[in-house]
Amino acid sequence: MLTDRETYLALEKHFEEIRPLHLRALFAEDPARGERFAAEGAGLYLDYSKHRVTTETIGRLAALAGDCGLRARIDAMFRGDRINVTENRAAWHTQLRAGTNPDVEAVLARMAGFATRLRAQSQIRNVVNIGIGGSDLGPVMAYEALRHYSKREFTFRFVSNVDGTDFAECTRDLHPEETLFIVASKTFTTQETMANAEAARQWVKAANLPVAEHFVAVSTAETEVRKFGIDTANMFGFWDWVGGRYSMDSAIGLSTMIAIGPESFREMLAGFRAMDEHFRTAPFEQNLPVLMGLLAVWYVNFFGCETIAVLPYDQYLKRFPAYLQQLTMESNGKRVTRDGVPVKYQTGPVYWGEPGTNGQHSFYQLIHQGTRLIPCDFIGFIETLNPVDGQHDLLMANVFAQSKALAFGQDSAEPHRVFPGNRPSSTILAQRLTPAILGALVALYEHSVFTQAAVWEINPFDQFGVELGKVLAKQVLPALRGEAELKDPDSSTLALIRRYRGK
Ligand code: F6P
Repeated sequence: MLTDRETYLALEKHFEEIRPLHLRALFAEDPARGERFAAEGAGLYLDYSKHRVTTETIGRLAALAGDCGLRARIDAMFRGDRINVTENRAAWHTQLRAGTNPDVEAVLARMAGFATRLRAQSQIRNVVNIGIGGSDLGPVMAYEALRHYSKREFTFRFVSNVDGTDFAECTRDLHPEETLFIVASKTFTTQETMANAEAARQWVKAANLPVAEHFVAVSTAETEVRKFGIDTANMFGFWDWVGGRYSMDSAIGLSTMIAIGPESFREMLAGFRAMDEHFRTAPFEQNLPVLMGLLAVWYVNFFGCETIAVLPYDQYLKRFPAYLQQLTMESNGKRVTRDGVPVKYQTGPVYWGEPGTNGQHSFYQLIHQGTRLIPCDFIGFIETLNPVDGQHDLLMANVFAQSKALAFGQDSAEPHRVFPGNRPSSTILAQRLTPAILGALVALYEHSVFTQAAVWEINPFDQFGVELGKVLAKQVLPALRGEAELKDPDSSTLALIRRYRGK
């Protein structure tokens, strides 16, 4: 097990040497630190100098990754081996952007034909993606991130929550004859998505419109799609080797392609591919996803950190933290190893965040002066897509000021004004937010999550933790509706149900 490995035990010893050191001292003794602790790949620049590490730490973390078989695991993923052992599937999302898989290319070509036709016609004006989890978060995030490149004559909306309010508010100002629904669901059985798809079908029918002309499906489940009444000629497929949270660059990205056009979608795939290549080939010490994954391990398992904040200084990335929540926590929120043995160490941390500078006026207080150590990922761009009177300099001055304040702090005679500093952060910089850079950024986090999972010896590709709640909801529903009695010793739930029913 991880904690018995020699490389891990050596890191525990090394941690005792690092723990008392302040970043002020680390910078003072090495004037080149700010440039030495940096790496570049796929158009992204990673400054990790403001982390509580030395060259020795990075070497030891890389040795741990080697010991845990990261190299072999990377090769297995890219080969399409069934590394999702608990579901006996490959996790081959890298194929989606490799540019070499005939099945993938055929779907991309169909998507491109459809998107091009849709973008050229004038009847449909609104595109509504109905999906949840990976069938929603990626499409929403990518649409928001790439809005600058999107077809502005169209309205894009995303319905996910089974709360009827989501559907009602999404459609209240839309005309059915101008609206196309994309029902996005890998399994085509997800309760929330099917309920919203049914609501959409009724909404279209109520306007006396032919359902077939207002629906397309994105799914791996042809039979289910047909059952729902969508012509499979209007279905875009993918494969069981694409996990939901790894699917935004598959047909699940149909709304993205309609928004930005097939060419820009291809650019996004090229960005993913560039990061894949970097991950596959760069030595661990210069490998962005490996470094970020290992730094997470360093803070979680040695410093005892419980959360990592992701702070994009770009309004277009406002849904990026929400997207990352599923990617990171559905992947690495695991308590047993690949072989089913309970782990004796911490695994996936909580990822959270908000776009800067909004977060600064909200929760940064705790990051600067609270009792917890919260490593931060700052993400910024050298050029803005919307130059507004010097505001970009102001925005970026804030990024650099925040990481500086966190690292170096400030002394004061007044205890309330002391900033202890020594609070770690990464800064990820790119030239400008393009489709390719977005692809690279997403792949960076995908592979960072993969690196963490390799070290923790867990399977990042299953998600059994979401099942129990789904099963219980099916049992509770008839009780809520008074169709059946819930026979259960759980008096809390019984009392809540009685109260809900007004009895
Ligand atoms: O929440 C569990 C989950 O299976 C996610 O992994 C997935 O992204 C989401 O539900 C949606 O699933 P589907 O695309 O099959 O509707």
